[in-house]
Amino acid sequence: MDTTTVASLQGSVNEKYQHLFNDTPLLVRSPGRVNLIGEHTDYNNGLVLPAAIDKNIILAIGKRGDRAIHLHSLDQEQTHIATLDSLERSQLLWPDYILGVIQQLAQRGHTMQGVNLVFGGDIPQGAGLSSSAALECATAFALNELFGLGIQRLEIALTAQAAENEFVGVKCGLMDQFASVFGQEQRLIKLDCRDFSHEYIPFNNPDLRIVLFDTQVKHSLASSAYNERREQCEYGVSLIQKHHPDVKSLRDANIEQLKRHVKPVDEVVYNRCFYVVSEIKRLQDGCDDLKKDDFESFGKRMFETHHGLQHLYEVSCDELDILVDLVRDYDAVLGARMMGGGFGGCTINLVKAPHVDEIVKTVSEGYLAKTGKNPQVYIAQLSAGTSIIR
Ligand code: GLA
Repeated sequence: MDTTTVASLQGSVNEKYQHLFNDTPLLVRSPGRVNLIGEHTDYNNGLVLPAAIDKNIILAIGKRGDRAIHLHSLDQEQTHIATLDSLERSQLLWPDYILGVIQQLAQRGHTMQGVNLVFGGDIPQGAGLSSSAALECATAFALNELFGLGIQRLEIALTAQAAENEFVGVKCGLMDQFASVFGQEQRLIKLDCRDFSHEYIPFNNPDLRIVLFDTQVKHSLASSAYNERREQCEYGVSLIQKHHPDVKSLRDANIEQLKRHVKPVDEVVYNRCFYVVSEIKRLQDGCDDLKKDDFESFGKRMFETHHGLQHLYEVSCDELDILVDLVRDYDAVLGARMMGGGFGGCTINLVKAPHVDEIVKTVSEGYLAKTGKNPQVYIAQLSAGTSIIR
Protein backbone atom coordinates (compact mmCIF):
# COMPACT_ATOMS: atom_id res chain seq x y z
CA MET A 1 0.00 0.00 0.00
CA ASP A 2 1.19 3.51 -0.76
CA THR A 3 1.51 4.75 2.81
CA THR A 4 2.30 8.34 1.79
CA THR A 5 -0.99 8.74 -0.07
CA VAL A 6 -2.98 7.12 2.71
CA ALA A 7 -1.27 9.35 5.29
CA SER A 8 -1.90 12.53 3.34
CA LEU A 9 -5.55 11.61 2.62
CA GLN A 10 -6.00 10.69 6.25
CA GLY A 11 -4.56 14.08 7.23
CA SER A 12 -7.00 15.99 5.00
CA VAL A 13 -10.06 13.99 6.09
CA ASN A 14 -9.10 14.28 9.75
CA GLU A 15 -8.45 18.00 9.47
CA LYS A 16 -11.80 18.63 7.78
CA TYR A 17 -13.58 16.61 10.44
CA GLN A 18 -11.93 18.54 13.25
CA HIS A 19 -12.71 21.81 11.50
CA LEU A 20 -16.39 20.97 11.00
CA PHE A 21 -17.11 19.13 14.23
CA ASN A 22 -14.35 20.15 16.65
CA ASP A 23 -13.83 16.57 17.79
CA THR A 24 -11.42 13.65 17.29
CA PRO A 25 -12.93 11.02 14.94
CA LEU A 26 -12.52 7.31 14.41
CA LEU A 27 -10.72 6.83 11.06
CA VAL A 28 -11.38 3.92 8.72
CA ARG A 29 -9.88 2.95 5.36
CA SER A 30 -11.56 0.82 2.70
CA PRO A 31 -10.04 0.02 -0.72
CA GLY A 32 -11.26 -0.18 -4.32
CA ARG A 33 -10.81 -3.40 -6.30
CA VAL A 34 -9.73 -5.00 -9.55
CA ASN A 35 -11.06 -8.27 -10.93
CA LEU A 36 -8.73 -10.54 -12.90
CA ILE A 37 -11.40 -12.76 -14.43
CA GLY A 38 -15.01 -13.78 -13.72
CA GLU A 39 -17.12 -10.83 -14.83
CA HIS A 40 -20.90 -10.68 -14.36
CA THR A 41 -20.72 -14.06 -12.68
CA ASP A 42 -21.23 -12.97 -9.06
CA TYR A 43 -25.01 -12.41 -9.24
CA ASN A 44 -25.29 -15.75 -11.04
CA ASN A 45 -23.91 -17.62 -8.00
CA GLY A 46 -20.65 -18.09 -9.90
CA LEU A 47 -17.02 -17.40 -9.01
CA VAL A 48 -14.99 -14.20 -9.20
CA LEU A 49 -11.29 -13.41 -8.80
CA PRO A 50 -10.97 -9.87 -7.43
CA ALA A 51 -8.36 -8.18 -5.22
CA ALA A 52 -8.36 -4.99 -3.17
CA ILE A 53 -5.99 -2.32 -4.51
CA ASP A 54 -3.94 0.55 -3.18
CA LYS A 55 -6.65 3.14 -3.74
CA ASN A 56 -8.87 3.96 -0.81
CA ILE A 57 -11.77 5.75 0.74
CA ILE A 58 -10.78 7.30 4.07
CA LEU A 59 -13.68 7.96 6.40
CA ALA A 60 -13.81 9.91 9.68
CA ILE A 61 -16.75 9.36 11.99
CA GLY A 62 -17.95 10.30 15.47
CA LYS A 63 -21.11 10.01 17.56
CA ARG A 64 -23.57 12.85 17.97
CA GLY A 65 -25.84 13.46 20.94
CA ASP A 66 -28.99 13.45 18.78
CA ARG A 67 -30.34 11.42 15.84
CA ALA A 68 -29.07 13.67 13.06
CA ILE A 69 -26.65 12.45 10.40
CA HIS A 70 -24.19 15.09 9.17
CA LEU A 71 -22.26 14.01 6.08
CA HIS A 72 -19.49 15.80 4.23
CA SER A 73 -17.71 14.74 1.04
CA LEU A 74 -14.25 16.25 0.85
CA ASP A 75 -13.87 15.63 -2.88
CA GLN A 76 -17.27 17.02 -3.86
CA GLU A 77 -17.10 19.75 -1.21
CA GLN A 78 -20.72 19.02 -0.40
CA THR A 79 -22.63 18.54 2.83
CA HIS A 80 -25.80 16.55 3.36
CA ILE A 81 -27.88 16.40 6.53
CA ALA A 82 -30.36 13.60 7.26
CA THR A 83 -31.97 11.96 10.27
CA LEU A 84 -32.03 8.39 11.50
CA ASP A 85 -35.81 8.65 11.85
CA SER A 86 -36.55 9.03 8.17
CA LEU A 87 -33.89 7.80 5.79
CA GLU A 88 -34.57 8.96 2.27
CA ARG A 89 -32.58 9.11 -0.94
CA SER A 90 -30.78 12.39 -1.48
CA GLN A 91 -30.54 14.41 -4.68
CA LEU A 92 -26.75 14.01 -4.64
CA LEU A 93 -26.16 10.23 -4.94
CA TRP A 94 -22.98 10.03 -2.81
CA PRO A 95 -24.93 10.35 0.50
CA ASP A 96 -27.10 7.39 -0.59
CA TYR A 97 -24.21 4.94 -0.23
CA ILE A 98 -23.87 5.96 3.41
CA LEU A 99 -27.57 6.34 4.20
CA GLY A 100 -28.29 2.98 2.54
CA VAL A 101 -25.84 1.25 4.89
CA ILE A 102 -27.35 2.98 7.93
CA GLN A 103 -30.81 1.88 6.79
CA GLN A 104 -29.69 -1.73 6.30
CA LEU A 105 -28.07 -1.86 9.73
CA ALA A 106 -31.21 -0.39 11.32
CA GLN A 107 -33.37 -2.93 9.50
CA ARG A 108 -31.19 -5.70 10.87
CA GLY A 109 -32.07 -4.48 14.37
CA HIS A 110 -28.86 -2.63 15.23
CA THR A 111 -29.25 0.38 17.51
CA MET A 112 -27.37 3.53 16.58
CA GLN A 113 -27.48 7.24 17.31
CA GLY A 114 -26.68 10.21 15.08
CA VAL A 115 -23.20 10.60 13.55
CA ASN A 116 -20.89 13.17 12.01
CA LEU A 117 -18.99 11.82 9.03
CA VAL A 118 -16.40 13.14 6.57
CA PHE A 119 -14.85 11.12 3.76
CA GLY A 120 -12.44 11.51 0.87
CA GLY A 121 -10.37 9.20 -1.26
CA ASP A 122 -8.21 8.52 -4.26
CA ILE A 123 -10.34 5.86 -6.01
CA PRO A 124 -11.28 7.51 -9.29
CA GLN A 125 -15.07 7.74 -9.54
CA GLY A 126 -16.87 6.09 -12.44
CA ALA A 127 -13.71 4.18 -13.37
CA GLY A 128 -15.15 0.80 -12.41
CA LEU A 129 -12.81 0.47 -9.41
CA SER A 130 -15.71 0.31 -6.97
CA SER A 131 -15.40 3.59 -5.13
CA SER A 132 -19.05 3.27 -4.10
CA ALA A 133 -18.55 -0.21 -2.62
CA ALA A 134 -15.50 1.10 -0.74
CA LEU A 135 -17.59 3.92 0.71
CA GLU A 136 -20.35 1.51 1.72
CA CYS A 137 -17.87 -0.86 3.34
CA ALA A 138 -16.02 1.94 5.13
CA THR A 139 -19.37 3.13 6.51
CA ALA A 140 -20.49 -0.31 7.69
CA PHE A 141 -17.07 -1.05 9.21
CA ALA A 142 -16.96 2.32 10.99
CA LEU A 143 -20.50 2.07 12.39
CA ASN A 144 -19.78 -1.46 13.60
CA GLU A 145 -16.75 -0.21 15.51
CA LEU A 146 -18.33 3.02 16.77
CA PHE A 147 -21.46 1.39 18.18
CA GLY A 148 -19.96 -2.02 19.03
CA LEU A 149 -22.45 -3.85 16.81
CA GLY A 150 -20.48 -7.10 16.82
CA ILE A 151 -20.73 -7.71 13.07
CA GLN A 152 -18.29 -10.00 11.28
CA ARG A 153 -16.60 -9.14 7.98
CA LEU A 154 -18.93 -11.21 5.80
CA GLU A 155 -21.98 -9.48 7.21
CA ILE A 156 -20.32 -6.11 6.63
CA ALA A 157 -19.90 -6.95 2.96
CA LEU A 158 -23.47 -8.30 2.70
CA THR A 159 -24.91 -5.22 4.42
CA ALA A 160 -23.00 -2.95 2.05
CA GLN A 161 -24.27 -4.95 -0.95
CA ALA A 162 -27.84 -4.78 0.35
CA ALA A 163 -27.50 -0.98 0.65
CA GLU A 164 -26.53 -0.82 -3.03
CA ASN A 165 -29.35 -3.22 -4.05
CA GLU A 166 -32.15 -1.75 -1.96
CA PHE A 167 -31.35 1.92 -1.39
CA VAL A 168 -29.25 2.91 -4.40
CA GLY A 169 -31.14 0.52 -6.70
CA VAL A 170 -28.26 -1.24 -8.48
CA LYS A 171 -28.80 -4.99 -8.24
CA CYS A 172 -25.08 -5.74 -8.00
CA GLY A 173 -23.55 -8.99 -6.80
CA LEU A 174 -21.22 -9.33 -3.82
CA MET A 175 -17.84 -9.09 -5.55
CA ASP A 176 -16.95 -5.43 -4.99
CA GLN A 177 -17.92 -5.28 -1.33
CA PHE A 178 -16.33 -8.64 -0.57
CA ALA A 179 -13.05 -7.60 -2.20
CA SER A 180 -12.98 -4.30 -0.33
CA VAL A 181 -13.52 -5.99 3.05
CA PHE A 182 -11.49 -9.20 2.55
CA GLY A 183 -8.53 -7.96 0.46
CA GLN A 184 -5.00 -9.06 1.34
CA GLU A 185 -1.64 -7.82 0.11
CA GLN A 186 -0.36 -9.54 -3.04
CA ARG A 187 -3.25 -11.96 -3.13
CA LEU A 188 -6.30 -12.54 -5.28
CA ILE A 189 -9.53 -13.72 -3.72
CA LYS A 190 -11.21 -16.67 -5.39
CA LEU A 191 -14.74 -16.15 -4.13
CA ASP A 192 -17.55 -18.61 -4.63
CA CYS A 193 -20.68 -16.47 -4.64
CA ARG A 194 -22.93 -19.48 -4.05
CA ASP A 195 -21.81 -20.05 -0.49
CA PHE A 196 -19.28 -17.21 0.09
CA SER A 197 -16.44 -19.69 0.59
CA HIS A 198 -13.16 -18.22 -0.59
CA GLU A 199 -9.50 -18.95 -0.95
CA TYR A 200 -6.56 -16.62 -1.45
CA ILE A 201 -4.33 -17.10 -4.49
CA PRO A 202 -0.85 -15.51 -4.28
CA PHE A 203 -0.24 -13.00 -7.04
CA ASN A 204 3.24 -11.65 -6.58
CA ASN A 205 5.16 -12.37 -9.75
CA PRO A 206 7.80 -9.61 -9.88
CA ASP A 207 7.90 -9.81 -13.69
CA LEU A 208 4.27 -8.82 -14.13
CA ARG A 209 2.22 -5.69 -13.53
CA ILE A 210 -1.52 -5.11 -13.44
CA VAL A 211 -2.03 -2.01 -15.55
CA LEU A 212 -5.40 -0.26 -15.73
CA PHE A 213 -6.31 2.04 -18.60
CA ASP A 214 -9.24 4.26 -17.74
CA THR A 215 -11.41 5.17 -20.75
CA GLN A 216 -12.53 8.34 -18.92
CA VAL A 217 -16.08 7.58 -19.97
CA LYS A 218 -19.09 6.28 -18.09
CA HIS A 219 -22.15 5.87 -20.28
CA SER A 220 -25.41 6.86 -18.64
CA LEU A 221 -27.19 3.57 -19.39
CA ALA A 222 -24.74 1.65 -17.23
CA SER A 223 -26.92 0.88 -14.20
CA SER A 224 -30.17 0.23 -16.08
CA ALA A 225 -28.35 -2.06 -18.53
CA TYR A 226 -26.73 -3.82 -15.57
CA ASN A 227 -30.09 -4.56 -13.97
CA GLU A 228 -31.42 -5.68 -17.36
CA ARG A 229 -28.56 -8.20 -17.75
CA ARG A 230 -29.37 -9.62 -14.38
CA GLU A 231 -33.04 -10.03 -15.34
CA GLN A 232 -32.07 -11.73 -18.61
CA CYS A 233 -29.95 -14.25 -16.69
CA GLU A 234 -32.83 -14.93 -14.33
CA TYR A 235 -35.18 -15.39 -17.26
CA GLY A 236 -32.76 -17.89 -18.81
CA VAL A 237 -32.71 -19.84 -15.54
CA SER A 238 -36.51 -19.86 -15.38
CA LEU A 239 -36.68 -21.41 -18.87
CA ILE A 240 -34.31 -24.20 -17.86
CA GLN A 241 -36.05 -24.70 -14.53
CA LYS A 242 -39.24 -25.82 -16.24
CA HIS A 243 -37.34 -28.94 -17.29
CA HIS A 244 -34.67 -29.11 -14.59
CA PRO A 245 -36.10 -27.87 -11.27
CA ASP A 246 -32.72 -28.41 -9.60
CA VAL A 247 -31.13 -25.58 -11.63
CA LYS A 248 -31.34 -22.62 -9.27
CA SER A 249 -28.95 -20.26 -11.06
CA LEU A 250 -26.64 -20.19 -14.09
CA ARG A 251 -24.01 -21.73 -11.83
CA ASP A 252 -25.98 -24.98 -12.02
CA ALA A 253 -26.68 -24.76 -15.75
CA ASN A 254 -24.69 -26.24 -18.67
CA ILE A 255 -24.38 -25.31 -22.33
CA GLU A 256 -26.48 -28.27 -23.43
CA GLN A 257 -29.43 -27.07 -21.32
CA LEU A 258 -29.04 -23.55 -22.71
CA LYS A 259 -29.08 -24.83 -26.27
CA ARG A 260 -32.12 -26.95 -25.67
CA HIS A 261 -34.31 -24.69 -23.53
CA VAL A 262 -33.18 -21.08 -24.00
CA LYS A 263 -31.89 -20.73 -27.56
CA PRO A 264 -35.20 -21.60 -29.26
CA VAL A 265 -37.10 -19.11 -27.07
CA ASP A 266 -34.79 -16.07 -27.02
CA GLU A 267 -31.47 -15.80 -28.85
CA VAL A 268 -30.32 -12.70 -26.94
CA VAL A 269 -30.99 -14.30 -23.56
CA TYR A 270 -29.19 -17.40 -24.81
CA ASN A 271 -26.11 -15.31 -25.66
CA ARG A 272 -26.13 -13.69 -22.21
CA CYS A 273 -26.42 -17.06 -20.47
CA PHE A 274 -23.88 -18.72 -22.75
CA TYR A 275 -21.36 -16.03 -21.83
CA VAL A 276 -21.95 -16.48 -18.08
CA VAL A 277 -21.75 -20.28 -18.11
CA SER A 278 -18.55 -20.11 -20.22
CA GLU A 279 -17.06 -17.42 -17.99
CA ILE A 280 -17.55 -19.48 -14.83
CA LYS A 281 -15.65 -22.34 -16.49
CA ARG A 282 -13.03 -19.91 -17.79
CA LEU A 283 -12.37 -18.65 -14.28
CA GLN A 284 -11.88 -22.16 -12.95
CA ASP A 285 -9.46 -22.98 -15.79
CA GLY A 286 -7.73 -19.63 -15.20
CA CYS A 287 -7.15 -20.47 -11.55
CA ASP A 288 -5.51 -23.75 -12.65
CA ASP A 289 -3.23 -21.67 -14.92
CA LEU A 290 -2.25 -19.47 -11.98
CA LYS A 291 -1.42 -22.50 -9.84
CA LYS A 292 0.99 -23.58 -12.59
CA ASP A 293 2.33 -20.02 -13.04
CA ASP A 294 1.08 -20.22 -16.62
CA PHE A 295 0.36 -16.52 -17.10
CA GLU A 296 0.41 -16.81 -20.90
CA SER A 297 -2.58 -19.12 -20.81
CA PHE A 298 -4.30 -17.00 -18.16
CA GLY A 299 -3.82 -13.90 -20.31
CA LYS A 300 -5.43 -15.57 -23.33
CA ARG A 301 -8.49 -16.26 -21.24
CA MET A 302 -8.70 -12.56 -20.35
CA PHE A 303 -8.93 -11.73 -24.05
CA GLU A 304 -11.63 -14.40 -24.41
CA THR A 305 -13.57 -12.81 -21.57
CA HIS A 306 -13.43 -9.49 -23.36
CA HIS A 307 -14.70 -11.08 -26.54
CA GLY A 308 -17.67 -12.55 -24.65
CA LEU A 309 -18.44 -9.28 -22.86
CA GLN A 310 -18.24 -7.39 -26.16
CA HIS A 311 -20.24 -9.69 -28.43
CA LEU A 312 -22.44 -11.89 -26.25
CA TYR A 313 -23.07 -10.04 -23.01
CA GLU A 314 -22.85 -6.70 -24.84
CA VAL A 315 -21.65 -4.55 -21.95
CA SER A 316 -18.53 -3.12 -23.60
CA CYS A 317 -18.34 0.16 -25.51
CA ASP A 318 -16.19 1.60 -28.31
CA GLU A 319 -13.66 3.14 -25.92
CA LEU A 320 -13.08 -0.14 -24.07
CA ASP A 321 -12.78 -2.08 -27.32
CA ILE A 322 -10.25 0.44 -28.64
CA LEU A 323 -8.10 0.03 -25.51
CA VAL A 324 -8.15 -3.76 -25.80
CA ASP A 325 -7.43 -3.66 -29.55
CA LEU A 326 -4.46 -1.34 -28.97
CA VAL A 327 -2.61 -3.93 -26.86
CA ARG A 328 -3.74 -7.08 -28.66
CA ASP A 329 -0.64 -7.51 -30.82
CA TYR A 330 1.98 -6.85 -28.14
CA ASP A 331 3.74 -9.91 -26.75
CA ALA A 332 4.43 -7.91 -23.60
CA VAL A 333 0.69 -7.80 -22.87
CA LEU A 334 -0.36 -11.27 -21.79
CA GLY A 335 -4.02 -10.42 -21.40
CA ALA A 336 -6.45 -7.51 -21.52
CA ARG A 337 -10.18 -7.01 -21.12
CA MET A 338 -12.79 -4.60 -19.92
CA MET A 339 -13.34 -4.83 -16.18
CA GLY A 340 -16.40 -4.47 -13.95
CA GLY A 341 -19.97 -3.63 -14.94
CA GLY A 342 -19.01 -2.16 -18.33
CA PHE A 343 -20.12 0.74 -20.59
CA GLY A 344 -17.00 2.65 -19.57
CA GLY A 345 -14.47 2.48 -16.77
CA CYS A 346 -11.17 0.63 -17.13
CA THR A 347 -9.52 -2.18 -18.98
CA ILE A 348 -7.30 -4.48 -16.93
CA ASN A 349 -4.03 -5.56 -18.58
CA LEU A 350 -1.45 -8.11 -17.53
CA VAL A 351 1.84 -6.62 -18.70
CA LYS A 352 5.46 -7.81 -18.54
CA ALA A 353 7.14 -5.41 -16.10
CA PRO A 354 10.05 -4.22 -18.27
CA HIS A 355 7.63 -3.16 -21.02
CA VAL A 356 5.15 -1.18 -18.95
CA ASP A 357 6.44 2.27 -19.97
CA GLU A 358 6.46 1.37 -23.66
CA ILE A 359 2.93 -0.06 -23.54
CA VAL A 360 1.60 2.92 -21.59
CA LYS A 361 3.09 5.28 -24.18
CA THR A 362 1.70 3.32 -27.13
CA VAL A 363 -1.77 2.97 -25.67
CA SER A 364 -1.95 6.60 -24.55
CA GLU A 365 -0.98 7.88 -27.99
CA GLY A 366 -3.25 5.45 -29.81
CA TYR A 367 -6.24 6.21 -27.58
CA LEU A 368 -5.74 9.95 -27.94
CA ALA A 369 -5.54 9.63 -31.71
CA LYS A 370 -8.72 7.55 -31.90
CA THR A 371 -10.91 9.24 -29.28
CA GLY A 372 -9.40 12.66 -28.59
CA LYS A 373 -9.11 11.65 -24.92
CA ASN A 374 -6.09 10.83 -22.75
CA PRO A 375 -6.61 7.60 -20.82
CA GLN A 376 -5.68 7.67 -17.15
CA VAL A 377 -3.23 4.92 -16.23
CA TYR A 378 -2.98 3.12 -12.90
CA ILE A 379 -0.57 0.39 -11.87
CA ALA A 380 -2.52 -1.59 -9.28
CA GLN A 381 -0.87 -3.01 -6.16
CA LEU A 382 -2.88 -5.70 -4.41
CA SER A 383 -3.61 -4.48 -0.91
CA ALA A 384 -5.24 -5.22 2.43
CA GLY A 385 -8.98 -4.89 2.98
CA THR A 386 -10.97 -2.50 5.18
CA SER A 387 -9.26 -1.52 8.42
CA ILE A 388 -9.36 0.90 11.31
CA ILE A 389 -6.62 3.50 10.98
CA ARG A 390 -7.16 4.97 14.41
C1 GLA B 1 -20.14 -4.40 -10.92
C2 GLA B 1 -20.95 -5.03 -9.79
C3 GLA B 1 -20.38 -6.38 -9.38
C4 GLA B 1 -20.17 -7.29 -10.58
C5 GLA B 1 -19.45 -6.55 -11.71
C6 GLA B 1 -19.41 -7.35 -12.98
O1 GLA B 1 -18.85 -4.09 -10.46
O2 GLA B 1 -21.00 -4.17 -8.67
O3 GLA B 1 -21.22 -6.98 -8.42
O4 GLA B 1 -21.38 -7.83 -11.02
O5 GLA B 1 -20.06 -5.29 -12.01
O6 GLA B 1 -18.63 -8.48 -12.80
